[in-house]
Amino acid sequence: MTGRRVCVADFEDEARKVLPKSVYDYYRSGADGQNTLADNVAAFDRWYVLPRVLRDVSTVDLSVSVLGHTLSMPVCAAATAMQRMAHPAGETATARACRAVGTGMMLSSWATSTIEEVMSAMTASPGDGGVLWLQLYIYKDRALTLSLVHRAEKMGYRAIFVTVDTPYLGKRLADVRNRFKMPPHLSMSNFTSASLAFSEDNYGNDSGLAVYVANAIDPALSWDDITWLKKHTHLPVIVKGVLNGEDAVQAVEHGASGILVSNHGARQLDGVPATLEVLEEVVEAVRGRCDVYMDGGVRRGTDVLKALALGAKAVFVGRPVLWGLACQGEEGVTEVLELLKEELRLALALSGCRSVSEVTRSLVRRVDFTSRM
Ligand code: GLV
Repeated sequence: MTGRRVCVADFEDEARKVLPKSVYDYYRSGADGQNTLADNVAAFDRWYVLPRVLRDVSTVDLSVSVLGHTLSMPVCAAATAMQRMAHPAGETATARACRAVGTGMMLSSWATSTIEEVMSAMTASPGDGGVLWLQLYIYKDRALTLSLVHRAEKMGYRAIFVTVDTPYLGKRLADVRNRFKMPPHLSMSNFTSASLAFSEDNYGNDSGLAVYVANAIDPALSWDDITWLKKHTHLPVIVKGVLNGEDAVQAVEHGASGILVSNHGARQLDGVPATLEVLEEVVEAVRGRCDVYMDGGVRRGTDVLKALALGAKAVFVGRPVLWGLACQGEEGVTEVLELLKEELRLALALSGCRSVSEVTRSLVRRVDFTSRM
């Protein structure tokens, strides 16, 4: 009998017990010394919330419009790869949960369910407001890359989040030690050949995924490739993996409809700032020309509140969804998302905000560590 799960950390504790070690390690790991991994979470503690009182918070509206869609809350499911390693229903369970909760899901290019299966699962499920976006890796094979985009367009996905921080895979020590590869009954289902489906036998002594990326993903990407992608799709393109104002301006100038401030769950370059640290710089550089989203370290409703106050339109959660999936499939993901929603509702009410639009910059102040010395 497991204990009651009352916060995201409880889901992780339980997931750690049920997942095979190499799977848990893969999901959990950051790159190298994992300094950024810890800092993504810790950064939220460097901000105070400054609540207002006597504002009639008997009803709180959490809804938000993201890329033209009204969602029930500004918390969406981030792309995380190979979700059937966490639960047999994998991405289809996550899609159903997002639909039930009324939020959006970003499907990984490296999903263990196809673009078509996930859309069918979402649209066939009860609920309102679910929406799917595709996370895209740009492969050396450009025709193959565009085939993913066109399959997503055909199935009714609403946007492409193109990952720009992975010319090579970051060095995740546990995956190297475990010689991480996909369990043999699974594959990256959007691809047919074994080499692209990550279902080859021998990746040598390394992380299998690092070898896969070196073989398949294009390390030569430049801003011209954002122009190229935009030319080949009518869907909005969001640049995922921006960590400073200068790149944010480039993204806007290359026609991005949005920017996702992300350090890839701290899995790429260790030593980069926590995403919360750079969010405001990106928001200021963008000057309202497109939406700014963030992911990384969001574990509580108050974290979401702080990210919104610093200018994020919505946040994405990756590992919390995986922990929910590992604990209890679709119900587990629904539970995690509902938990974050209720925590956010409470955080807004306790800070005197009746809606997401009332969350403004003045609601948070940086903790002044020097004054405590
Ligand atoms: C997938 O995107 C990963 O970082 O492993």
